[in-house]
Amino acid sequence: MMEKKMIEALPHLKGTTVQMESYANRKAATSSYLKSLYDKVYINHPERKNCFSNLLKQLDQAHASRPGALKLKDEEKRQNIDRPWFLSHELCGMSMYVDRFFGSLQLMQKELNYFQNLGVNFLHLMPLFESPKNESDGGYAVSNYRKVDKRFGTLHDLENLQKEMQDKGMYLMLDIVLNHTSQRHEWAEKARAGEKKYQDYFYFFNDRTIPDELEKTMPEIFPESSPGNFTYVPGLDKWVMTVFHNYQWDLNFSNPEVFNEMIDVILFYANLGVDVVRIDAPAFIWKKIGTNCQNLDEAHTLLQLIKSCVQLATPGMALLAEAIVSPAEIMKYFGEGNSATKECDLAYNATQMALSWDALATGDIRVMLAAQSAILKKPFGTTWLTYTRCHDDIGLGYDDETISHAGFQPYAHRKFIKNYYSGKYPNSPATGALFSVNEATGDARISGTLASLCGLEKALETHDRAEIKLSISKIMLMQSLSFFIGGIPVLFYGDEKGYCNQYDFLTDPDKSYDNRWMHRPVIKDDVTETEAAILQKTKRLIQIRKQLPVIADLKNLTWVNTENNHVAAFLRAWEDERVYCLFNFSDQPQRLSWYIFKQHGLRPAQLKDHWTHQEFMVGKDQDHFELLPYQFSILESV
Ligand code: GLC
Repeated sequence: MMEKKMIEALPHLKGTTVQMESYANRKAATSSYLKSLYDKVYINHPERKNCFSNLLKQLDQAHASRPGALKLKDEEKRQNIDRPWFLSHELCGMSMYVDRFFGSLQLMQKELNYFQNLGVNFLHLMPLFESPKNESDGGYAVSNYRKVDKRFGTLHDLENLQKEMQDKGMYLMLDIVLNHTSQRHEWAEKARAGEKKYQDYFYFFNDRTIPDELEKTMPEIFPESSPGNFTYVPGLDKWVMTVFHNYQWDLNFSNPEVFNEMIDVILFYANLGVDVVRIDAPAFIWKKIGTNCQNLDEAHTLLQLIKSCVQLATPGMALLAEAIVSPAEIMKYFGEGNSATKECDLAYNATQMALSWDALATGDIRVMLAAQSAILKKPFGTTWLTYTRCHDDIGLGYDDETISHAGFQPYAHRKFIKNYYSGKYPNSPATGALFSVNEATGDARISGTLASLCGLEKALETHDRAEIKLSISKIMLMQSLSFFIGGIPVLFYGDEKGYCNQYDFLTDPDKSYDNRWMHRPVIKDDVTETEAAILQKTKRLIQIRKQLPVIADLKNLTWVNTENNHVAAFLRAWEDERVYCLFNFSDQPQRLSWYIFKQHGLRPAQLKDHWTHQEFMVGKDQDHFELLPYQFSILESV
């Protein structure tokens, strides 16, 4: 039986009615699918049947305790099934540390108008749940999944913030740190105290036989600060798996009780009103001897299971995969084949992010274009989280073949990019640092803020006005690509004002071993002239995005051949609307033939640049128009 309800929670729909879909109907439609997924992973587990029936009870409870306002919001999100809410061009996000930005959740709640003025309506709050201060990994070593760390406030503060955000039409994203807990989590403490039940929540080994076997094929994530994938636990005289830091113990998902525990946490977050749950490090949740223990089939099945549990009990919450893996592997987190769109709704476009930095360093777009065929395979109904920077390092995760395909030698090419951004390359304008250097393999990733990597830090130090201007152009070029390429753009806090690296982390023993802290700023009250200028430009970029429905991620983009290795261009088209986005990655002006606008169907007669407000008549093929160094254009056919 369908029930009708008046919407009260969502300001723009207040007073209208929706048909409430019944939970019982949904359950009838999905339980056999749920069971088949559960069986696929746990078929050989003796407790499988019990655990599955417990899981169903957990789902019933989660749905029963879902607040009415969230159930209505679920319905509203479901109304336009062909156009999921997260595809909208009206979304613009920001990711931030609540303590480093505002101090606390309560203070943040009073400052929500900062985001509204800027146009940001989707907030990713970095991990808020309890985490030991001296072994926290920025909150990614959770010791209690249900208790907000007192540094930020209380659970009640978080609930209040969520309600206020909802009233203001804003969306909330929080993390579920799925792969590991802190060694101070209650489960880990009980395991350390010898409780077998909780030892089975982790991967324990009596000696080094299996760890040594696994180490043969497992890469190291933090080779400098936390080498290897196992840590000795003296009290137990056992080894525990610790893929990330030695204080982050990997959860054993081959135990269905662990899965059920984590589903409970995920649904708890859903019932706090989380709109998108960011699944931290999903690539790692299944381990198998002889593999690199990443992206395994079982990990995908578990994600599909999570998706179907959420769709049943708390359907308004979408799933984001933080899978920072190779381009082809990232795509699999949307689901493949029959499971397409049945896994994560969103994924980080880590490939594009890294490729943009590649293009900026080299001034050449060929590697970026060579990787696009993999990126364009995203299924309809899913979307990207696009970004230039986040709290993590930049990994050059695209394949060597892509680099070769573009005509470069992979080793030398990667070395140049790492040197360019870490300041080792002579005359490089960038100020950054190498992160997690692996002496054995030569691998390294890159730390630094958007502005510092774009040259602003050096330009400000030398008071070089021309360089300041140029670095601002680079910042906006990078942001604009992320804003218009498709997906939800998520700014990293501080970047909206062009914050440079901060180096105080070096004197803090809890942070000094991890140079990612250089680009996780503490926000200051005062705003410099340069910061104000960047803020203003960022705000304009957001406004432009919101004015252009064609930017909604309803269709993959079409790359335009610019016949110029320095300028990337794509067409976003939907019904009668056509917008050409052009990006000059070089430090020289570039001339382009008007022909490039005639490659794909309808030939525009006139174009309007939303960024510069200029209007152009499209000229003859033999005529040219020019883009200044690092200039971008958002040209709408008028
Ligand atoms: C993710 C987080 C990163 C963290 C790691 C371990 O990659 O983004 O910051 O160090 O997971 O939890």
